Amino acid sequence: MSDKDRVIIFDTTLRDGEQSPGCSMNLGEKLRIAEILAGMGVDVIEAGFPIASEGDFEAVSAIASTVKGTVICGLSRATKGDIDRAAEALKPAERKRIHTFLSTSPLHMKYKLQMEPDDVHDAMVASIKHARQHTDDVEWSPEDGSRTEHDFLCRCVESAITAGAGTINIPDTVGYAIPTEFASLIEMLMNRVPNIDKAVISVHCHNDLGLGVANSLAAVAVGARQIECTINGIGERAGNAAMEEIVMALKTRADVMPYHTGIDTTQIMKASRFLSGITGLAVQPNKAIVGANAFAHESGIHQDGVLKNAETYEIMTPESVGLTKSNIVLGKHSGRHAFRERARDLGYDLGDNALQSAFKRFKDLADLKKEMFDEDIIALIDDQVVGDDDTIQLVSLEVKCGTVHNPPNASMTLKISGSECSYDATGDGPVDAAFNCIKALMPHEANLQLYQVHAVTQGTDAQAEVSVRLEEGGRTVNGMAADTDTLVASCRAYIMALNKLLVKRQKNRAGRAFGLAISLSA
Ligand code: KIV
Ligand code: ZN
Repeated sequence: MSDKDRVIIFDTTLRDGEQSPGCSMNLGEKLRIAEILAGMGVDVIEAGFPIASEGDFEAVSAIASTVKGTVICGLSRATKGDIDRAAEALKPAERKRIHTFLSTSPLHMKYKLQMEPDDVHDAMVASIKHARQHTDDVEWSPEDGSRTEHDFLCRCVESAITAGAGTINIPDTVGYAIPTEFASLIEMLMNRVPNIDKAVISVHCHNDLGLGVANSLAAVAVGARQIECTINGIGERAGNAAMEEIVMALKTRADVMPYHTGIDTTQIMKASRFLSGITGLAVQPNKAIVGANAFAHESGIHQDGVLKNAETYEIMTPESVGLTKSNIVLGKHSGRHAFRERARDLGYDLGDNALQSAFKRFKDLADLKKEMFDEDIIALIDDQVVGDDDTIQLVSLEVKCGTVHNPPNASMTLKISGSECSYDATGDGPVDAAFNCIKALMPHEANLQLYQVHAVTQGTDAQAEVSVRLEEGGRTVNGMAADTDTLVASCRAYIMALNKLLVKRQKNRAGRAFGLAISLSA
């Protein structure tokens, strides 16, 4: 395998991904994700947008200080202030990159920037020259590149390279391109920009038409050598190209796509599950590579084929993405060691504290359930990211279901900042009654945007995994929890989301308030 066929994996889970509805992460979570990304062999980690907020700055700076063996990148607009802020955050990094961007499409220049093309061109050149004073590794993106006029795009790309950009990233910002068209655009740049061989061509494809991965791979076929992507495909709107799909497509179809990455694919499940657990954004079961059904064979004909020879219906092995089959059945008599091993096989490397708390919940669950499936273990580990130091904690819940003459009623006790308080409420249903208790105990203006329940396994003793999304002041947060009691899972998911809103409120105290009215005395 030659170096000219090596595709650089630029992960933007912590920047573009974090811009997905509800996907904001705290500092500790970002650090852990960055460590996982570095551990799996990601070449460049875009750690955030330092000028965007104090939290982003701190996260980029902390990642730059602690995560080694990979390039740490910070995003900036084309202004000195942005670039200096990114450079400041990146200072401790072993290897750093400044990624600066400016829109170049007619629509963006006219309406968003309200700038003439010549001024955009000059501002871009100045921004790259300024960024180069901080680091030799500068990337430039013409935002909305796929809808930019070709002559202007060629002119800007040539000048960007002359000014010192070593990577030129062509974004399909609005996910509008289709693979043949996007490949032609990259080919056009390869053919027309005289100094194109002095830079690595990168692509950044959004998934609005479900073509993010296809567009990225089409670009590689004509010479792009960096792909920007995210774990689980999270990102603005419909998200970005999913890293796991790109990496596994290149690995599985090396016969027709003879390119390679430095990614250890056996780390994929771990990264996907950890991200899903901390963001509360569940992965759809039929999602390629990392969905719960991605390696499940339901029909008898398929099962029979796989038993005779897995290749009949499996184009890649579960082991290659970090899933391992186990003959050990865990139950209430299983010990900590067996539990840790099973968790590891499922892609979770638990530290001592996380193991302790997950193992306790495993024992509690094993007392309630006859059979413990891998899905149960995954759900309970994902769920345990709710911390003991959360402001709001569920202490107890009793719910009475009822008919028209006997409305559902919930009695709840919460611990809020260390003090216990209780409330009784009725509602349109038991979930409504329970949520009314939370609202009374912790008054807030957040809107419930999503309430979703799914059974982790089959049977009436199955755990329910509940996702809740709250929106307040234009910001969204997700909460996810699993329990054999659907009502308990619902309240814990709601409370997890509410705790995330509180953290955001604290972070933004100096800036915008989110209007979350906290009343500890209620
Ligand atoms: O989608 C986009 O255009 C971006 C740029 C900042 C690269 O995220
Ligand atoms: Zn983007």
